[in-house]
Amino acid sequence: MSVKTKEPKAANPLVPQKARIIKIVAETPDVKTFHVTTDKGKPFTPRPGQLAMLSLLHIGEAMFSIASQGEQHLEFSIKKTGLLTDSLHEVGEGQTVGIRGPYGNGFPLEMVKGKDLLFIAGGIGLAPVRSLINYCLKNRKNYGSLQLIYGSRTPADLCFKEDLFQVWPDQGLEVNVTVDKGDDNWDGPVGFVPAYLEELNPEPEGKIVILCGPPLMIKFVIQSLDKMRFKHENIITTLEKRMKCGIGKCGRCNIGSLYVCLDGPVFTLAQLDRMPVEL
Ligand code: FES
Repeated sequence: MSVKTKEPKAANPLVPQKARIIKIVAETPDVKTFHVTTDKGKPFTPRPGQLAMLSLLHIGEAMFSIASQGEQHLEFSIKKTGLLTDSLHEVGEGQTVGIRGPYGNGFPLEMVKGKDLLFIAGGIGLAPVRSLINYCLKNRKNYGSLQLIYGSRTPADLCFKEDLFQVWPDQGLEVNVTVDKGDDNWDGPVGFVPAYLEELNPEPEGKIVILCGPPLMIKFVIQSLDKMRFKHENIITTLEKRMKCGIGKCGRCNIGSLYVCLDGPVFTLAQLDRMPVEL
């Protein structure tokens, strides 16, 4: 007689799970990383680049990128931008939150497998990219060269400093960091990301670019990548900030005939060139 083993039930992405913030890391004056888990462990196992809804009782609910994950928890790096995010910055470890997800399709893992990857990020835009960087480093042998070019306004505004200056270089990521304006303790590069990118002048051949950051930075980075002859089908970016309901119902994320939440949020620049979209 064969014995059927019961598959563990996947969490329903529409139903919030009761979760707890177990650790809070102050990344910058206005960004904190929240480690979230449930009594049963990790709420779900997302793919790199997916998102989740976080809620605070009586305050609200919003969609956030999942910046990384551990065996038992998910990490969200959240910038203060309004009532919910300001309130999250006020709570302490042990706080109960609601979580549901995952949403979106995440980064195209098949497309990037075996390739040289160039990550380019600005400010809090490093949060979604971090999930892919950590995934690639965990599966290091599946990738060619891995390089990050990251910038923020000032040294104090750099997110994930331990990753940038210790963990990632030790694990095989070439990390290049610049700031718009230095301070007395900063002896690294100073200047905007597009200019720094051109100075570093990475080879476009066989390379996939993963780009995420403020719209102005993205606009000028694309101009620089064009100058360096990167192909738009080899540049991917995430439009995750447009996601609201995450399930194709609210109609707030569509660009042309596509829904960012159902078809994205990650697209190649070649796809976006064919759509009526301002980055
Ligand atoms: S986020 Fe609501 S329809 Fe896409």
